[in-house]
Amino acid sequence: MPRLARRALLALAGLGLAAAPAAAQPFPNRTVTIVVPFAAGGPTDTVARLVAEAMGRELGQTVVVENAGGAGGTIGAQRVAQARPDGHTLLLHHIGMATTPSLYRRLAYDPIGGFEPVGLITEVPMTLVAKKDFPANTLAEAIAVIRQRRDALNYANAGIGAASHLCGLLLMKAVDTAMTTVPFRGTGPAMQELLSGRIDLMCDQTTNTTEQINSGAIKAFAVTTRERVASLPNLPTSAEAGLPAFEVSVWHGLYAPKGTPAEITRRLSQALQVALRDPRLVARFAELGTTPVAQDRATPEAHRAFWMADIAKWQPIIQAAGQYAD
Ligand code: MLT
Repeated sequence: MPRLARRALLALAGLGLAAAPAAAQPFPNRTVTIVVPFAAGGPTDTVARLVAEAMGRELGQTVVVENAGGAGGTIGAQRVAQARPDGHTLLLHHIGMATTPSLYRRLAYDPIGGFEPVGLITEVPMTLVAKKDFPANTLAEAIAVIRQRRDALNYANAGIGAASHLCGLLLMKAVDTAMTTVPFRGTGPAMQELLSGRIDLMCDQTTNTTEQINSGAIKAFAVTTRERVASLPNLPTSAEAGLPAFEVSVWHGLYAPKGTPAEITRRLSQALQVALRDPRLVARFAELGTTPVAQDRATPEAHRAFWMADIAKWQPIIQAAGQYAD
């Protein structure tokens, strides 16, 4: 090697600029933030806080939840799609990730290409609930009141694309009627209005309604899954109550921004799988009417396949309803 080149290489080595790779920082190396695209106190927030606590134990790092509500969950999703892809900012979202691509036509982010799926978390049943003094005690009686009073009734949801919006779409399609829809930044705040009697009806996840139903603070007419929910044993399924088409469950998943290194996404998926086996999380999920997904679904590959299939499932339903958010 010519003398000049050797001297140059030695000089670079002295400056540490030679080929030695920069020591990669361990992951995580600071607080991890899980963004929830709905207000605090709602069903998505409830799932996120349980997952954050259990993942934090596994990662040995603080994992915090940040609520970024509004626009049916797209404000929080955009925040993560545009975050630094280093694994420290994540999104916990639900079925809205499958409906947003069909409902929103002018987003400032790519609702599919903006994310790396990390793993599925849980599938939560929904319940049709009403204020305590709603003049019905069965689904059939509630349908009669809905048909008679129509837009004199206030139905709450968490914005277009939210699970509560989709459930309302399915209900109004199955009952062939319409109610006045009142959007909130999440069904946490909406629940407060239902408890006060200012809202008449809502379709929301058992993670937000179970305790209110069992305490008698609100009425419930059906659960939207094929099987009854153990924590709500007396609540009939929508099929038992005479409305088999009114069936939906809300799946939740964890996402990192597009471009997050695969080894970090893999590490996050491993931590999620451990979290979903955590006895405290499993017990609390059961109290709230749900269970963690099987371990082989909490992987990036299983999550992506399920997500893409659900996008394809909802696209014709939304197109036929002709309702878009923008
Ligand atoms: C929804 O989609 O209705 C959300 O679950 C509401 C929420 O989590 O606050």
